[in-house]
Amino acid sequence: MNSAKHLLSTAQFTAPEEVYALFATADHARTKQIVRPASSPLMNLDGKIIVTAFYENSTRTRCSFEAAALRLGGQVITETFATSSQSKNERLEDSVRTLSQYGDALVLRHPEIGAVGFAAEFSKIPVINAGDGAGEHPTQALADLYTVFRHRGEIDNGFSVMFCGDLRDGRTVHSWLPLVKLLGNVKVFLAANEGMSLSPHLYQGVENVVLVEQKNIKMFLPAVDVLYMTRVQEERKDRPTQPEASGFFKLRPEIYSIMKKSACVLHPLPRNSEIHPDCDAHHASLYHTEQVKNGLYLRMAVLHHVLRGDLFR
Ligand code: NCD
Repeated sequence: MNSAKHLLSTAQFTAPEEVYALFATADHARTKQIVRPASSPLMNLDGKIIVTAFYENSTRTRCSFEAAALRLGGQVITETFATSSQSKNERLEDSVRTLSQYGDALVLRHPEIGAVGFAAEFSKIPVINAGDGAGEHPTQALADLYTVFRHRGEIDNGFSVMFCGDLRDGRTVHSWLPLVKLLGNVKVFLAANEGMSLSPHLYQGVENVVLVEQKNIKMFLPAVDVLYMTRVQEERKDRPTQPEASGFFKLRPEIYSIMKKSACVLHPLPRNSEIHPDCDAHHASLYHTEQVKNGLYLRMAVLHHVLRGDLFR
């Protein structure tokens, strides 16, 4: 891993063992069910202040980071666009220079691609990328992969994943691809909505990629271990159509019958119309249950390694 202690991209991981080390820490948080103030001696953020600065809206990422910090005995300062000097046109670097003097780690989300990496150059404290526009969202992809790891019991022996929906701007998918390259034995099906294809440079180097047209998704689904649904990123620029009026693939309960019994369905959330609510109760649907919970444990592990561990140094 590079010398920076920031976590800006999953491309920072240089060996699968680093990912497994992070998962082992998440497992520790999971099995110990750490709840403040009875923190684990191995994972303890007592005396640390975590700043969450979200200049773009969020439910899960912000709240799970805050819950993670609090569960580890740390404290939290929250800033959102509406309450910040960002709304008074303060330069991002000036906000970050300031916040980095108050806390010990900065969890930053910003609507512009590259903004979090740029901001990290002005921070005295570790910066965690919580989503930079249509760029990356490393902790979500790691939480997703951790969910696959938990669901399958291992990820050493390969699996297949179908990414479906807005692959052009879906940043969680962008953060998945360096992990897929690192693991090496993952088969990737890319089933993008029309006009929302993944930029080829992002899957360059992935050994086994199949481009799937929307109308053929059902044909490929029986071969898929992980179906990864994403919403249309309507807030990004140049959105082609109104998704509600479109013919994009939508997951409905009857489709589960053509999938493997062992398959799982993930979604980074928020979900719009791409998954029918009647799918939620299916045992393969992990997006409201395991995936969300694992996001908490994984972020506990990230905070631990950024502040106390050695993984990101
Ligand atoms: C995603 C995000 O914000 O990038 N959700 C998340 O953080 N868990 C996905 C999305 O907004 O579509």
